[in-house]
Amino acid sequence: MRHADLKQFKQSGEKITCLTAYDASLAKLIDRCGVDLILVGDSLGMVVQGDANTCSVTMSEMVYHTKAVTKVCKRALVVADLPFQSYEEPLSALENAKLLINAGAQMVKLEGGAERQEIVEALIKNDIPICAHLGLQPQKVKEVSDYKIQGRDQNSAKRIVEDALLLESLGVSAVVLECVPSSLASLVSEQLSIPTIGIGAGKDCDGQVLVCFDMLGITQGKLPRFVRDFTVGNQGVSRAIKAFVEAVKNQSFPSEEESY
Ligand code: KIV
Repeated sequence: MRHADLKQFKQSGEKITCLTAYDASLAKLIDRCGVDLILVGDSLGMVVQGDANTCSVTMSEMVYHTKAVTKVCKRALVVADLPFQSYEEPLSALENAKLLINAGAQMVKLEGGAERQEIVEALIKNDIPICAHLGLQPQKVKEVSDYKIQGRDQNSAKRIVEDALLLESLGVSAVVLECVPSSLASLVSEQLSIPTIGIGAGKDCDGQVLVCFDMLGITQGKLPRFVRDFTVGNQGVSRAIKAFVEAVKNQSFPSEEESY
């Protein structure tokens, strides 16, 4: 898939499916299960490296994981995260985005809105497709006091809508909305002609993204010996991924209980 195809999903009303992947084996399985987008997310800092947040992930780690994923993907569009502090000013942002594109990613994702305008402009000018990330922004964990659902009060909701509109006007291809009330995600999705991809943002987003280990019930750490994980093995895992694809496409995921 090419990034230009994303708009067609929005126009046709078909929901976009997205899962994270960090390695070749899972990426290959996810790709073959028909997931539309694969995100090499900096969530790998937590779910692969065992850190408390995503801020320790480096550019060279992102390049390493992006290469592993893109080597095996035939169908899905691969999006790679620009990690914490890798896009502080236009020149380094461009250099780092090019490293991810050279590693095989078709699009890069970055967090933030208006404060990133210069960065977004520099990447778009150089034909680097961008997925933006609004709402809860994990890379801001150290600077944000209310690290929880975003856009609950009028001012912050207004800011998210304005940021999304600005990012669209600058040329970004899609916007991830993380942990925002469903009504706000619905409003943003309605106002944009580019797709929104939600995580904890309700059913009205144009697509849904989940961290692969979360949706497969894979938990970090040593489990007691009486535990058996029945999802282990290709059949169980691929069934789970196919169920995710089906549930997003037929709009039974997320339910109200899974939204804010
Ligand atoms: O890094 C990541 O996995 C993400 C998703 C949670 C959207 O940004």
